[in-house]
Amino acid sequence: MDFPKIVGHRGAAALAPENTLAGFRKAAEAGAQMVELDAKLSADGIVICHHDNELGRTSDGKGLVAVQDFAALRALDAGGWFGPSFKGERIPTLAEALALIAELGMGVNVEIKPCPGRERETAAATVKVVRDHWKGSFPFQFSSFKLAALEVALEQAPDLPRGYLTDDFAEGWLETAQRLQAVSVNGNFRRYTKQRIDAVHAAGMKALAYTVNEPADAARLLADGMDILVTDCPDRLLAL
Ligand code: G3P
Ligand code: MG
Repeated sequence: MDFPKIVGHRGAAALAPENTLAGFRKAAEAGAQMVELDAKLSADGIVICHHDNELGRTSDGKGLVAVQDFAALRALDAGGWFGPSFKGERIPTLAEALALIAELGMGVNVEIKPCPGRERETAAATVKVVRDHWKGSFPFQFSSFKLAALEVALEQAPDLPRGYLTDDFAEGWLETAQRLQAVSVNGNFRRYTKQRIDAVHAAGMKALAYTVNEPADAARLLADGMDILVTDCPDRLLAL
């Protein structure tokens, strides 16, 4: 199934706490047909939805995610920091997130976001959860900035599409995306020029830009041929 033009970033990060079930619901309410989330491992190997290596910004915990067992992570409040109405929101497992996202009728971009040194382990565990819990009737892709994670995804789930994430379009970016047999190049919108979009298309891939929140940026990118925009504000971009 084709990817929609608008993808909610970490759910709908401007509207609800990122990487939470409330956030995925909010994205669906806003009309998003697909969401992006960040997958990483607890100390005891459970795949959870969380962006940072540390806990402090998006929960009432502190310290490193990588040293906490899932039971401790689950006890944290991952919503109150965003607003009082989200107090009590929990860090979801990837399995829970995938079940809800499918129930809401959306697709998903599972960004493999390993804590340092856990690249292959995180990718393998994430692939397994997706295999066990994603039934495949909606658009799907893995993405990662970490080559080791995408290599594991290619080895273990060659049939599931991959997006090659790049912040800086460093030397050899297009060849790397091709080597990983990516279906898309997922780049920082500030550095995604028309020339790069054209190169991606010429190589038979889609161009995806993150994180696009301003209508003027969205208009420029779409005029240049951008296929997919990842946004904190799906409501705002869908209204265009
Ligand atoms: O997948 C797009 C985007 O989420 C990549 O950056 O840091 O928000 O995970 P980040
Ligand atoms: Mg992400």
